[in-house]
This record gives sequence, C-alpha cells and structure tokens, in this order.
Amino acid sequence: MLITLEGIEGSGKTTQIEYMAAYFRETGHDCVITKEPGGTGIGEKIRAILLNPENHKMDPLAELLLYAADRAQHVHEIIIPMQRAGKIVVCDRFHDSTTVYQGFARGLDMGLIQRLNALVMGDVSPDVTFVLDLPVELGLKRAWKQIQNGSRNEAETRFENEKRQFHEKVRNGYLTLALREPDRFCVVDAAKAPDQVRAAIVERLNALVK
Ligand code: TMP
Repeated sequence: MLITLEGIEGSGKTTQIEYMAAYFRETGHDCVITKEPGGTGIGEKIRAILLNPENHKMDPLAELLLYAADRAQHVHEIIIPMQRAGKIVVCDRFHDSTTVYQGFARGLDMGLIQRLNALVMGDVSPDVTFVLDLPVELGLKRAWKQIQNGSRNEAETRFENEKRQFHEKVRNGYLTLALREPDRFCVVDAAKAPDQVRAAIVERLNALVK
C-alpha cells in the first residue's frame, strides 16, 4: 500500500507523518516513512539543488526534470522494494506535487508532466492521498516561524520565497485534483489543531487497513 501526503508550505505534513508512523506501529502494521524530494542518497543531493534559495534562476524545465530524476531513483530504490517486502509506504509528497507545483503553479505543459510522471512511476500509484489544506497566509506564517526557530532548514527555502500568488495556485491545484479524484484524495482541514488533523486522518486510515 502507498499513502501520500501533500500540502502547501507549513501545512504540518511532518507532524502528521510522525503520528501516522505511531498509528501503524500501534495497530501492528509494518510501515516505512519516506519523502520526495530526497528519499534516497542520490535524491538528497538533488533535493539540495532544488531547494537552495541561491538557485532562484533555475529554469522551470530543469526543475521539472530534477523532480522526475529524484522520483525515478526513489521509486526504484525504495518504493517498489518496500512494497514487495509487504510494507505500507507513507510518502511525504509524490507525483501530485509535480502536477501542482510545476503544472498549476509554474504553468508547464500538463501533458508533459503526465507523461513524465507515468514514465517514472510505472505501475506505482498511491492508494490514498491526504491533502493538508489551509489558507496560504497561515501556512507561510507557520513555515517562516519554523525557519526562524531553526526547526526548518534555511538552506531549503527556495519555494517559501515564492510570491503568495504562487502558493495560492498550489493550494487551488490540490483542491482541483481532489475534486477530479474524490476516491483517492482525502482533504483535511489543516488550519485546525494537530490533534484534530490527526483524528481526521486516523478515521480514513481505520477504513483503509480494515
Ligand atoms: P518539503 O520537503 O519541505 O515539503 O519541500 C519540498 C518542496 O519541493 C516543496 O516546496 C514542494 C516542492 N516540490 C515540487 O515543486 N515538485 C515536486 O514534485 C515535489 C516532490 C516537491
């Protein structure tokens, strides 16, 4: 099983993923937590390039291809072997991030993005995708607070530095995808307290692991 988490900057994915790991431990399921970009050793290097604010001149197509390269490595090195080993794979961001950030927000050709996603994903596709949804202003406020208090890496702020309009496109992109695929997506109100967000996620997980 593959479960993915998506959301704008500051949506609380990291906290919820920790809760999810605890949930699977407590319910006796073998689960592995991973992320994109950076779920592999090679991916970590790609991540450092992608998120470094000094790389503000990165060409959008180069950006898209780097995310695709990271995903190709991750799918083959981690996701497929872990699924074969019978583990539940929980991934912090996956292909929907590319559709939303490089497609809806950067405006790259959606057909190209779909072809690249299909190429690198092969038969791998998420069983459920949680979108942690909240207003952009609140998300960015949380993200910058974490950067200031050191719990978020300052060397990875290329996207936080994007204009508010960019983040609005990202948020709306996720909501559009969720409407298109209501069976796969579960949109959770991430403006609520972490415990309430966890409760909404657990409700869906209970139904899923039954
Ligand atoms: P995060 O690990 O803190 O969520 O940061 C990853 C950043 O990379 C985030 O701003 C979203 C962005 N991103 C894309 O633009 N496209 C992608 O395909 C992925 C996986 C992430």
